[in-house]
Amino acid sequence: MTETKPIPQHVAIIMDGNGRWAKQRGKERYEGHIAGVESVRAVVRASVRNGVKWLTLYAFSTENWGRPTAEVDAIMELFCKTVMGEAAELRDQGVRVKIMGERGRFSEKVRGMIDYIEQTTAIAERMTLVLAFNYSSRREIVLGVRDIARRVAQGELSAEAIDEQVIAESLMTRSMPDPDMIIRTSGECRLSNFLLWQASYAEFYFPEVLWPDFTEEEFDRALEVYARRDRRYGLVTSEPSK
Ligand code: IPE
Ligand code: IPE
Ligand code: MG
Repeated sequence: MTETKPIPQHVAIIMDGNGRWAKQRGKERYEGHIAGVESVRAVVRASVRNGVKWLTLYAFSTENWGRPTAEVDAIMELFCKTVMGEAAELRDQGVRVKIMGERGRFSEKVRGMIDYIEQTTAIAERMTLVLAFNYSSRREIVLGVRDIARRVAQGELSAEAIDEQVIAESLMTRSMPDPDMIIRTSGECRLSNFLLWQASYAEFYFPEVLWPDFTEEEFDRALEVYARRDRRYGLVTSEPSK
């Protein structure tokens, strides 16, 4: 009997290390972000090939607005350029794209690009690529709690009816499964405000490689690491109980 390797249904990646990659080469930080787009293409291809159904990429945190304006502008510009260049190709690969984050702070151009890529790829069914863009998990939780409080105040929901499902459905990830694996490149071992609620039983993997050096082979290696993990969920063994 051949053993089937468990494939994570949802992989989430904190794409970190672009600035350091650029600095090591005597380049500007934004050049690291540009180089990082190739790694995005690689992990999308690898996810589709491996049958991963959900891929979430942390592209820009709410805190990242605090970076120098020139870098923020370069990231926004790169987002627009990449969306224009990749939308049709993603659709043809069967990749549906969703942008997760608050949209109010974006320029009209960026908002237009968000609509464009979501509409262009809406019919694709092979995999969903979620780009966390102006996302932070604490902010997501604040917005969710406000929404629940409003429903309670209006008498639509009783306090006792608030359970894990109600909370999960109040978050920006409402239609998504929890991440099975969270990868952060560049050797940093922190979440930086990413998927705090959703990560409760995720497997973590922190490769040293900087994001622009993350290849399809690196992604396959991550899946191999995942396959060897024993996910116990608080029980004694991951084997079915007798
Ligand atoms: C990640 O790379 C990309 C974003 C946060 C937009 P960084 O820009 O954080 O790169 P380092 O961590 O400074 O090397
Ligand atoms: C987290 O990386 C955000 C993204 C990868 C988009 P940062 O580089 O911004 O996080 P810190 O500052 O190292 O925690
Ligand atoms: Mg960083």
